Amino acid sequence: MESTPSPRGVLDKDVSRLDVDGTFSVTWTHRLRFTRNVLDPDNSLIDSLIPAQPRPIRVLSILDSGLVEAQPTLVNQLDRWLTPRAEQLVPAGPPLILPGGEQAKTGWDAFEQTAQAIAKGHVCRQSLVLIFGGGAVLDAAGFAAATSHRGVKVIRLPSTTLAQGDSGVGVKNAINAFGTKNFLGTFAPPHAVVNDTSLLASLDDRHWRGGLSEAVKVSLLKDPDLLQLIEQNTQPLLNRDLQTMEDVLIESARLHLDHIVNGGDPFENEEARPLDLGHWSAHRMEAISEWQLSHGDAVAIGLALDITYATKIGMLPEAKAQRVIECLRALGFLESTPTLDDPDTLLQGLEEFREHLGGQLAVPLVSDIGVATEVDEINMSAMRDSIRDLRETIS
Ligand SMILES: NC(=O)c1ccc[n+]([C@@H]2O[C@H](COP(=O)([O-])OP(=O)(O)OC[C@H]3O[C@@H](n4cnc5c(N)ncnc54)[C@H](O)[C@@H]3O)[C@@H](O)[C@H]2O)c1
Ligand SMILES: [Zn+2]
Repeated sequence: MESTPSPRGVLDKDVSRLDVDGTFSVTWTHRLRFTRNVLDPDNSLIDSLIPAQPRPIRVLSILDSGLVEAQPTLVNQLDRWLTPRAEQLVPAGPPLILPGGEQAKTGWDAFEQTAQAIAKGHVCRQSLVLIFGGGAVLDAAGFAAATSHRGVKVIRLPSTTLAQGDSGVGVKNAINAFGTKNFLGTFAPPHAVVNDTSLLASLDDRHWRGGLSEAVKVSLLKDPDLLQLIEQNTQPLLNRDLQTMEDVLIESARLHLDHIVNGGDPFENEEARPLDLGHWSAHRMEAISEWQLSHGDAVAIGLALDITYATKIGMLPEAKAQRVIECLRALGFLESTPTLDDPDTLLQGLEEFREHLGGQLAVPLVSDIGVATEVDEINMSAMRDSIRDLRETIS
């Protein structure tokens, strides 16, 4: 009679009693708040998010240099907000200002400065790090905070539309390393995300519209009503009406949060990442342009490309794709870009996406507005045609 082979091979001693699988789960509350003027001394939103402590806690503030340049009174406002709270909150050193934009994530500088400020300021796991900035500063400083003392408490205060409606709401951080975007990073849910929409007033037009392409993306995947809201308000959005932007960002952030909380895979252990519509090419275009193309602008082109492809393979009716392309145009997206000139270089983005997913391609697409689906292979000739068509459409 044949015996079943042991998974350990042949051992001269029975060690199976050492096999112990302990399952545990950790409950996490993902807190997302919207406000205006969070640093008004009377605004108690941040106070309400700090757990009651018997002793004062140390607070390290980190700010994006682009935000500080555009809103020079912010550091004073922070000071004025902290002063009446001196019995509960002790500043852990002067505010740290990190260079804003992709440079924050390129190399170790911002990471090191943050970790050093945490060390010098004696920030511990009971302390609080407040990070004000765009997605890049949130990513770099968030990565340092997540790995210092194996993770200190962070409140993210995203200051771009893209970060308020999308990236800041997530649970990831990263820096670019070894030539690869987001190569080093962790999944580390922040203690809270506070979206102060008054921070958005000083954005340039490109970053003001940035969050709208992610909002269109999530509407295509999950919520036709959000697309309608955006379509009906393209003019106020273009004219920088804050209230309309808030309406869109609240919905976009809510859908992103819902995906993290109820999607069943907050730490992306499964291969599928269904919120990445349009992103395989967007990431590639950002790299080809050497980061001249913003993430928001690249995502808009990536969305237009993927829905053009979806019509070519008969998945999405052409009129629906046209409707989305018109909406993106009306929002100021889809300017002509040399990143579409060479389809082969762009198509390498699919390979990178496959590698990023761990070998098996899973490209999110839509079969209708609000109806997400996923394909595990791409018809290269149809995708090449889609790139050419799109290039003509937007030239
Ligand atoms: N962690 C995630 O899950 C995740 C998801 C998507 C994107 N991201 C990352 O987010 C980054 C893009 O973030 P972003 O679109 O917020 O842009 P950004 O962080 O690159 O900031 C854009 C520019 O705006 C400036 N700025 C920020 N706030 C300002 C304000 N209120 N007024 C004036 N200027 C201001 C910055 O200094 C910078 O120059 C990318 O690095 C991307 O990889 C991260
Ligand atoms: Zn994105």
